[in-house]
Amino acid sequence: MAKLQSLTGKTSLVGVMGWPVAHSLSPAMHNAAFAELGLDWAYVPLPVRPDDVEQALKGLAALNFVGTNVTVPHKQAVMRYMDELSQAARITGAVNTIHLQDGKFYGYNTDAIGFLNSLKEANCDPKGLRAAVLGAGGAARAVVFALARAGADSVIVLNRTAERGAFLVDDLAAAFPGSHLTFAALTLESLAVLDEKIDLVVNSTSVGMHPHIDASPWPADVPMPARVIFCDLVYNPLETVFLARARAAGAATIDGLGMLVHQGAYAFEKWTGQPAPIEVMRQACLTNLKGGDKEISD
Ligand code: ATR
Repeated sequence: MAKLQSLTGKTSLVGVMGWPVAHSLSPAMHNAAFAELGLDWAYVPLPVRPDDVEQALKGLAALNFVGTNVTVPHKQAVMRYMDELSQAARITGAVNTIHLQDGKFYGYNTDAIGFLNSLKEANCDPKGLRAAVLGAGGAARAVVFALARAGADSVIVLNRTAERGAFLVDDLAAAFPGSHLTFAALTLESLAVLDEKIDLVVNSTSVGMHPHIDASPWPADVPMPARVIFCDLVYNPLETVFLARARAAGAATIDGLGMLVHQGAYAFEKWTGQPAPIEVMRQACLTNLKGGDKEISD
């Protein structure tokens, strides 16, 4: 159980900017980490309307915030106000973490490193693997970037809306010449023929997320090969139908909690300069996920 924190006149502030943010797990995760390390820091929810993004960023600077996480729907909107962008933020076209230093805004995307660290934790090295990424939204962009940067042999993007998938692949292929990025539209047939061509499947769609927990991006009548690793970015519920079926088929699975925790840990380390207490952060998320509030987001 996290220790109680007390605020002082010197408390350093960070938060999460989004609309809405009421169901974010990040305040619980970061405040548990601050308490664990005895840091005089606090992490607050920052509900910001879409029209108020610029004002909100100016406000954070004026109020001497150290930084903030950025979530839906502001991840793209904040980019134009950054003084510097990390390579991941630039290539994925999204910022989920801002660090304010000497009045300057530094924009990062910690989803990509968070995803890679969650694979590493599960003893999965993407180098040389042939990956299939389901989805072409913001989360998929971070995953494709991460896989390409980590030296995956090939990345196939499968998406319901074909143009969006093609757009992602074109963008990322330009950033990683020679990474063998290819595109296929998400259809039952294309999944069926993937069998011999993939080692890792990542669900980056929102299919299977609460409240639609009976849905899976993988059709029930297409077998899930036991030699393939199946990874789901959805963490609410932790055991999605996608992962449950993969497990039942004898395949290795990786759930979405690792990415959530590791993207938060990387932001924590940027802000505080201290190693993040990963297990404490994971437990804080688990406690909230099990706490009965089903309307949870990052
Ligand atoms: P995020 O930023 O979390 O990735 P997003 O940008 O809204 O969220 O992307 C959601 C992804 O899930 C998209 O790839 C979306 O497919 P489309 O591009 O066709 O919209 C995918 N998705 C959502 N609901 C889906 C469904 N019922 N079936 C298949 N794909 C779905």
